[in-house]
Amino acid sequence: MKINDRLKEFNQVDNRKGVKVLTVDDFDLKGKTVFLRVDMNCPIDPDTMEISGTKRIEEAIETLQSLKEAKVVVASHQGRVGNDDYTGMDKHAKVLEKLMNREIKYVEDTIGEAAQNAIKNLEDGEILLLDNLRLCAEENYEFTPENAAKTIMVSRLSKLFDLCVLDSFPSAHRSHPSIVGFPQVIPACAGRIVEREVRNLDEIMTVAKAPHVIVLGGSKVPDRLEAIKMLIKNGRADHILLTGLIGNVFMRAQARIKSPLGIKREDEVVAKAHALIGEYPDVFTTPVDIAIDKDGARVEMDVRDLQIGDKIYDLGPKTVEHYSKIISSAGTVFISGPAGFFEKENFSFGTRGLLDAVANSMATSLVSGGHLTTALKEQGLEEKINHISTAGGALVLYLTGEKLPMIKALEDAAIKYRTK
Ligand code: 3PG
Repeated sequence: MKINDRLKEFNQVDNRKGVKVLTVDDFDLKGKTVFLRVDMNCPIDPDTMEISGTKRIEEAIETLQSLKEAKVVVASHQGRVGNDDYTGMDKHAKVLEKLMNREIKYVEDTIGEAAQNAIKNLEDGEILLLDNLRLCAEENYEFTPENAAKTIMVSRLSKLFDLCVLDSFPSAHRSHPSIVGFPQVIPACAGRIVEREVRNLDEIMTVAKAPHVIVLGGSKVPDRLEAIKMLIKNGRADHILLTGLIGNVFMRAQARIKSPLGIKREDEVVAKAHALIGEYPDVFTTPVDIAIDKDGARVEMDVRDLQIGDKIYDLGPKTVEHYSKIISSAGTVFISGPAGFFEKENFSFGTRGLLDAVANSMATSLVSGGHLTTALKEQGLEEKINHISTAGGALVLYLTGEKLPMIKALEDAAIKYRTK
């Protein structure tokens, strides 16, 4: 692909300040066919199977506008195979169409003949959304970049594209074919979200100071456990304040919750939490009081009074007060994942209270994940936060100091393609 003048300049000035990855400004896009990997993995209401939060679809628009001269093929995953939020992308196409007030073509296929024909038939300026990438088995596995390039997905589709734009920062920690495979065989650059995230995070991490307080909720427990270990080892977590499902797992490991939580791989994750508490006894703080749901009503109680079968839906006031004090003494505070069922008004107390504490602390603050960014907006606290990201697990892993596979792929592509 022909490179434009800005890229030529980049070839000559290797150390252009801050530039480690190429961006869409580095390419002449007119008439080109672009593969745009976004992350439109949205919360899905299990009763209606409709999208219940469109933030990630809204975010994709900026890059789409930057690609307006090209033929753009948008690709994303939604949910995980076998989970309640695993569904097709038809709804996403409709939401995007409404948000952009223009036609979005959609094909119920990912790599087959229907998808390939739809790509070939695109005109300049048109946008096509492919179906859920995880319909293709390969997209459910992690690969080395070299092997990702040999997948059927990449070998079939890459022939149809001039450029790959990676903009799915929330999945930057996955080495799936659509993320690390294409940059091996076609030029690749960052979209606007990735460009902004990398720039802001690099800046923030150079000034981040101790004590590092991590407030961790969310439901992807195995991922969280891995990240916790790395955060502590790499000196990025002096205090970890646990909430949500991961908090329940640690309370079960402390034998403070007596009945099984009923989650996948429960014995394994509880054993891992138990080992972490043993190894780092001073790092973890778990709730002292919680709120359960009793026929739709909020009932607060001490964790010791939990009965078998009680469903924990939120933190109690003593826990929020205690956590808030620790947050107020932080040098850097990172909060990821809601503290309970914050979508239900009477169980949003914990999430709102902790966000208030983060926003009003003097610490460098980072807020991560779709739920929290929505709650922040509702509370009008966005201005008081240093960095806000819809990414969850990817951001946690970034903070450990690990190089994310997507960023590595983009840096390698910058080196490889700037000399061509
Ligand atoms: C996320 O929401 O964290 C990303 O979309 C990645 O999803 P995954 O954990 O299912 O890979």
